[in-house]
Amino acid sequence: MINHHRRRLLRNSFATLATISAGCAIPARDLLASTSPVLRKPIPGTDESVPVIGMGTWITFDVPAQANLRARRASVLQRFVEMGGGMIDSSPMYGYAEEVLGESIATLKKTDTLFNASKIWTPFAGNANAQMADTEKQWGVKPMDLMYVHNLVKWQDHLPKLQQWKDEGRIRYIGLSTSHGRRHAEMESLIKSEPIDFVQLTLNIEDTETEERLIPLAQDKGIAVVVNRPFQRGTLFSKYAGNPLPGLAGDLGCRNWAQYFLLYVVSHPGVTCAIPATSQVAHMQENMGTLKLPLPDFKTRALIRKSVTA
Ligand SMILES: NC(=O)c1ccc[n+]([C@@H]2O[C@H](COP(=O)([O-])OP(=O)(O)OC[C@H]3O[C@@H](n4cnc5c(N)ncnc54)[C@H](OP(=O)(O)O)[C@@H]3O)[C@@H](O)[C@H]2O)c1
Repeated sequence: MINHHRRRLLRNSFATLATISAGCAIPARDLLASTSPVLRKPIPGTDESVPVIGMGTWITFDVPAQANLRARRASVLQRFVEMGGGMIDSSPMYGYAEEVLGESIATLKKTDTLFNASKIWTPFAGNANAQMADTEKQWGVKPMDLMYVHNLVKWQDHLPKLQQWKDEGRIRYIGLSTSHGRRHAEMESLIKSEPIDFVQLTLNIEDTETEERLIPLAQDKGIAVVVNRPFQRGTLFSKYAGNPLPGLAGDLGCRNWAQYFLLYVVSHPGVTCAIPATSQVAHMQENMGTLKLPLPDFKTRALIRKSVTA
């Protein structure tokens, strides 16, 4: 099991070094020094921060017990940690992903910088306890840092349970998740009415609906925003990556399309962290390179989108 207090101390000492608020621009020449701290954002209302690039696990970590497949996922996670990664996102909905994560975490020499997030995903209130126990067992982590109600399924029953676990110290933060435009009206009303710490939503250069209401609302309420599908499930690459990178990407220090797509997402002032998923070490390396880039200001951010989708 991971020592929670040590982990928190380390996290906060990194935070004072490296918390960079959205909207500040740093000259490109200062970007890429490998010793420079990684880009982090605060969890609103706390003294804690997370690196702005995390890691998703849907599909990419859902692999059967075949040694070569599992070893490759362990390498992906290892690269994530080596490059300053913090937040890992999973769910009981993702098949073998939590089991594979637990095995991969067990191979790491250092786990105290991880920020572990999973979800309760069941239509039956009575199943939540068993599901939580499975998650703790599979990850080998206690307490879990963050537990969401996945896709708002049965939130009326699960939110009070998450609150109880938070009060007991079994989890540290409570969240609600949704994706690609589902149940946004309901999410909006819950952000207004429920005492939650995090929301997880979709945002990417092509799907910007959450920028209109949900993200600004969460920002006003002091709720952290985690972004899923930052690559629109990978379709952004098939659509755009055959083209040369726009000149603006080079000006911002981006070395590849992944960094350009991710910079658009995490430079929104209301976004705390994005959780791209990959099954490949080389892709993890590209994605995590974003942690060394400066955040463009809002005007430049709009130009990023225009340069791709206009
Ligand atoms: N409702 C919810 O709670 C909810 C819903 C959706 C997603 N999520 C979470 O959010 C995470 C991210 O969303 P997502 O997995 O749907 O999609 P995504 O992160 O937008 O895209 C993942 C795809 O991008 C590819 N990719 C990643 N890095 C790349 C790179 N540098 N170059 C080229 N291709 C790259 C991956 O392929 P390779 O494996 O080949 O790299 C994969 O196919 C999920 O894994 C999950 O944890 C939560």
